[in-house]
Amino acid sequence: MENRSQWGGSRLGFLMAAIGSAVGLGNIWRFPATAFENGGGAFFVPYLFALLTAGIPLLIMEYTIGHKYRSSSPRSFSKISKGMEWIGWWQVLISFVISTYYPVIIAWAIMYAYFSFGTQWGGDDPTSFFVGDFLNLADPGTFGFIVPAVMIPLIVVWVLVLFFLGRGVKKGIELANKIFIPTLFIVFLIIVIRAVTLPGAFEGLNAFFEPDWSRITEGKVWVAAYGQIFFSLSIAFAIMITYSSYLPKKSDITNNAFITGFANSSFELLAGIGVFAVLGFMAVQSSTPVEEVVKGGVGLAFMVFPEIISQMPASGFFGFLFFASLFLAGLSSMISISETYIAGLQEKFSISRGKAVTFGGGLAFIVSLFFANQGGLNLLDTVDYFINNYGVALAGLFEVVAIAWFARSLKDLQQHADSVSDIKLGIWWRICLGIITPAILGYMMLQNLKTDLS
Ligand code: PHE
Ligand code: NA
Repeated sequence: MENRSQWGGSRLGFLMAAIGSAVGLGNIWRFPATAFENGGGAFFVPYLFALLTAGIPLLIMEYTIGHKYRSSSPRSFSKISKGMEWIGWWQVLISFVISTYYPVIIAWAIMYAYFSFGTQWGGDDPTSFFVGDFLNLADPGTFGFIVPAVMIPLIVVWVLVLFFLGRGVKKGIELANKIFIPTLFIVFLIIVIRAVTLPGAFEGLNAFFEPDWSRITEGKVWVAAYGQIFFSLSIAFAIMITYSSYLPKKSDITNNAFITGFANSSFELLAGIGVFAVLGFMAVQSSTPVEEVVKGGVGLAFMVFPEIISQMPASGFFGFLFFASLFLAGLSSMISISETYIAGLQEKFSISRGKAVTFGGGLAFIVSLFFANQGGLNLLDTVDYFINNYGVALAGLFEVVAIAWFARSLKDLQQHADSVSDIKLGIWWRICLGIITPAILGYMMLQNLKTDLS
């Protein structure tokens, strides 16, 4: 396939897209809460360990697979070994499922960005997120049935996603990321600067960075660190293989993987600082300990934050920036998840990009409607839980075991990466992928099973 679509000439296009996929809601709301719950400052030890032994080595592996086989994930795996195509489809399936609920969260962000101007949540009970107008703001009279207000921004999200995907790799995906990612970075920098200059910011940062070294021997903390790295770097979702399949022949793979990994982690750290500075402000305002105001997941971004923001000076402006950054981070990740099945369908059925976008995107759009109402929220939480605790860990495990043990292709891949990269991979790379990562992923699966079954 010599006429395969490619990123633009400089490495910037690919890097912006890869960083755009990596930097997402996981950085802004997942990382700060995970770090805080798992030892604060002490969490950085397992976190860095996970980044260096699994995150970056796997990124290098996925970039190499995409670059070498120049195909979507399913076809790349089938080129490595006929019997392995299903591993690629498993990853694509996970991405497809995520792409049915991720846009709902982005749609909430749009609504909140819009609400910011009137700070409509101001003084509201945080439960309004669940039971108030928000999830079923509707006039049954108009449509004859209840239409949650979030449908409108949800459609906006899909129009944007399918528009950029339809335009192709360079004119669509690359263009979107070249606009979104620098904007996101600037917006987020403004937020963080504002946040750390709030009264109480220092208390928040203290609570965040305060290391609880006793936690570091807990298996659970290490599992959390690896889980965060996998999710955050979009590894084992077929994304990075797909994106790197559009790299020009001459591309420094290893270097790009290090840049992506460090950029993502820097953004995570920045988000942690911003979020905890704001939580510190809240704690001081309400004279409650920071511990009390921290809640993870959806709650942090959509319930705790709005409440805090409405107490801040110039709250509308700040709220808008915060939710705009969630929107930008989310949209660029959403584009990357959806591209996995667009590419997969295109190759499997030899159809045009337009058709793949219509069928694949269309189906995901329809399914996403089910998540956009009150009942959908519980469903979203459950699906998200299983996807993250089992789906991804399994996908990662299958991937490394298949490549390292069954196909025995690590040496091959290493040669390929070294032939185009400045940094040469050593034996450590094969040890990380062949031994450490499978061991950790296996342990992770067992731990999760143990917790869920007890
Ligand atoms: N890496 C993204 C984040 O940190 C999340 C994501 C996961 C995006 C899977 C795409 C696919 O939020
Ligand atoms: Na991330």
